[in-house]
Amino acid sequence: MVLPATGRAWEEIAADLEAAKAKDFSWRGGRMALYFYYLDDALNDVQKKAYTSFWTENNLGKRAFPSLAKLETDVVEFGLKTVNAPDGAAGTFTSGGSESIFLALQTARDWARAEKGVRDPNFVVPRTAHPAFSRAGHALGIEVRRVRTARNDFKADVAAMEATLDSKTIGIVGSAPHYPFGVFDPIRELGALAQRRGLWLHVDACVGGFLSPWVKKLGYAVPEWDFSVPGVTSMSADLHKHGMAPKGASLMMLRSDELKQKYQTFDFRDWERGQYLAYTMQGTRPGGAVAAAWSVIQYLGDSGYLECARIVMDTKKALMDGVNAIPGLAALEPSELCIFVTRATDPGLDIGAVSDAMVARGWFIGRQAEPAGIHMHVNPIHRESWRTYLEDLRACVEQVRGARTVGKEAGLTY
Ligand SMILES: Cc1ncc(COP(=O)(O)O)c(C=O)c1O
Repeated sequence: MVLPATGRAWEEIAADLEAAKAKDFSWRGGRMALYFYYLDDALNDVQKKAYTSFWTENNLGKRAFPSLAKLETDVVEFGLKTVNAPDGAAGTFTSGGSESIFLALQTARDWARAEKGVRDPNFVVPRTAHPAFSRAGHALGIEVRRVRTARNDFKADVAAMEATLDSKTIGIVGSAPHYPFGVFDPIRELGALAQRRGLWLHVDACVGGFLSPWVKKLGYAVPEWDFSVPGVTSMSADLHKHGMAPKGASLMMLRSDELKQKYQTFDFRDWERGQYLAYTMQGTRPGGAVAAAWSVIQYLGDSGYLECARIVMDTKKALMDGVNAIPGLAALEPSELCIFVTRATDPGLDIGAVSDAMVARGWFIGRQAEPAGIHMHVNPIHRESWRTYLEDLRACVEQVRGARTVGKEAGLTY
């Protein structure tokens, strides 16, 4: 990047931006296995218009922008109701799942420090938990112990987690569902363990928080996962995933507002400018993200979320059935919501090479590292692409059948 001596015309800049995208995978047509959530252009339009209507407002300034304070309160209220939070619960609008997880661990750390005197804390999490837990632990001085899921259903091994606890353990984690296999951890068992041992339990519902309630309404058996389970202390749920809001939108929720006020709030006065009050890691916050999430919720309504859930579950079934019909491939079970993994059942078939062949045909593939496979996070856009995806997958399997070469991107999951 060279700083132009004088500013350039927007038309030129716009052309540069378009050109910069030349090598990107297109999200249009459902060729990406992750990163993007799309229902239709009408919803995209609502996202954009709502975002730009609060383009300039700074959501740090609650007194300056009471509009945003109200929109944020509404979104948090919707979130708390969606996850069956009890009266007196609290929530915070964050920039994404990672920030929600960071805030949960920070609040738990400060709670344990104040109420239990724990100085070198650790959290015990299933190995399937998102890397954001280890990342937050790294930044916050919390050791994060990852425990293998011994059972063949990919669910947290609660006994093994219990065996890993010690006097410095302040909390445990369950996902609803986790990203690697799309399976729910046994939240009720984890809640009972948390209560028995006086631990914080964080449920990571970043993927499922705004999908599971409607999937359940459709009649699917969804495992217990929300605040109605005793022992759940905090929860992360992403609006910018199946909440269908544009990026920069998640909720961190706590069973009690007292925890938020005492341990999450940063109320600072030791400088010349007076009080600085914050609940998130961010200072300046985009007003557009809140306005857009609020608008999407209003635009979709209950029936819109139900429709999204129906599309996701129908599409996932079509994809899994189609994968299972291709000789040499199988879709891993269980898959309890919107994510599934495809594996090679034929030892002569290199799944990495199949992925490479799919990439060559213009598909952006999620590469599962352990076991080697193809990871798929289904969202409504995939109703446009599942038939072509399966046709191409079948063709790619035939193309590489018997190949011994390891996929050049094998091991890269993102
Ligand atoms: C289960 C789970 N938790 C947390 C996250 C992190 O969310 P973000 O990428 O919004 O920070 C993800 C992202 O995929 C996820 O799948």
